[in-house]
Amino acid sequence: MIPRTATTTSPEETRRLGASMAAGLEPGDVVLLVGGLGAGKTTFVQGVAEALEVTDDVTSPTFTLCQIYRGRLTLLHADLWRLERLAEVIDLALDEGLEEGGVLLVEWGEGAEPLFGKDCLVVTFEPGAAQSERRVTFSARGERFAARMEVA
Ligand SMILES: Nc1ncnc2c1ncn2[C@@H]1O[C@H](COP(=O)(O)OP(=O)(O)OP(=O)(O)O)[C@@H](O)[C@H]1O
Ligand SMILES: [Mg+2]
Repeated sequence: MIPRTATTTSPEETRRLGASMAAGLEPGDVVLLVGGLGAGKTTFVQGVAEALEVTDDVTSPTFTLCQIYRGRLTLLHADLWRLERLAEVIDLALDEGLEEGGVLLVEWGEGAEPLFGKDCLVVTFEPGAAQSERRVTFSARGERFAARMEVA
């Protein structure tokens, strides 16, 4: 089940949180990652990749737009820090197999809400009280993820 909220106190813990969410991912899922610079979005995706049995190192796609990793499911890892490239990201994601069963995770994902916001999972990262603390909130949009959420 996907928790509603979690607090992590290290990058490793954020990776584990990503891995536990990934255990419940299904083909075609879209996850929007929201949070400022250094919030932990890429760290979280590293945990997702591990759980999906991706063997390549996951790095920030800020300059490459969309990285494609082959694992148990195809992981499409995009970054909308440059929002003007939204259309390119979508084309790439669709070309690279989102519709054939990949999963798409988008950093600065609020930019993709007009397209995917009705049926996706939004994961928000906020700084906590301590420097290495992150508060992570999971929010199901639409029916797709609703049944996978822990009861509040
Ligand atoms: N609890 C934590 N979870 C995740 N990262 C943490 C945590 N505590 C400290 N950090 C540090 O915060 C940074 C998170 O970087 P990361 O690249 O994951 O952020 P990001 O949200 O992807 O940033 P960007 O918007 O630049 O892509 C890393 O340097 C990591 O070591
Ligand atoms: Mg990043």
